[in-house]
Amino acid sequence: MRSNDCFSCHSIEDYTGVPSYKMIAERYDPDPQTITDLSTKVLEGGGGKWGSAQMVKHPLLKSRDVRNIIKWVLSLDADSVVSKLKPQNTTVYTDTLHPYIITIFDNNQRTFTGSMDEINLVGNEHIKPNNQVLIKGTISVTQCGKHFFYMRKSGPGKMNKEGSMVISDRPDDNEIMLELDPGKYPFEIEYTAKSDSDTLSLFWLPESKDYYEVMR
Ligand code: HEC
Repeated sequence: MRSNDCFSCHSIEDYTGVPSYKMIAERYDPDPQTITDLSTKVLEGGGGKWGSAQMVKHPLLKSRDVRNIIKWVLSLDADSVVSKLKPQNTTVYTDTLHPYIITIFDNNQRTFTGSMDEINLVGNEHIKPNNQVLIKGTISVTQCGKHFFYMRKSGPGKMNKEGSMVISDRPDDNEIMLELDPGKYPFEIEYTAKSDSDTLSLFWLPESKDYYEVMR
């Protein structure tokens, strides 16, 4: 969304003459038909639902990306876990109460170790271009079935689960379905930063949910 124009009209919280993403989330439920209708609206543009302003069309976006965007937008209402997502300044904690351990290397020298409560780094101050970022954690599964993982990465990043690669660092490889039994599964993400405003997030669609949430 940040690499498109979505934030030039909409804000997450505030009405800017066009609805905020939270207003949109409060108005609609994330059922499949609504996701389809709103995706079509973003692709084709249009107005009439919120006033006289028109949304521009976005014909160059991939429909699957738009669906993922819509799912994220619709998850922003008050009772959603993802509403805690902090898109601009993700905090990296330095105590050990939080579940994910992050280590940052510059030319193989460790420059930072900390912990964080969700895998959602957007323009983090500790990460500089060409740094290697290593995140370790555990996937905690309570319900067996198909679990989807989606890694949003602006540079090369891969994911290992229990030592085997499940997402490679190719740019188009960012999604995996894993059939998991209840249990705890150690995983690791290795990422090479490209710029000061890198994005690295891991989203999870557990069997019991119908929308992706940030891994936390
Ligand atoms: C030029 C300004 C502009 C840009 C850029 C823009 N929007 Fe919108 N958007 C609007 C307006 C205006 C509306 C209200 C349309 C209406 O009243 O039906 C809207 C409505 C929406 C809605 C709700 C649609 C509905 O029918 O209720 C969604 C979802 C949305 N935008 C997502 C996006 C996404 C995702 C992007 C980036 C790909 C984006 N917008 C870019 C102006 C914009």
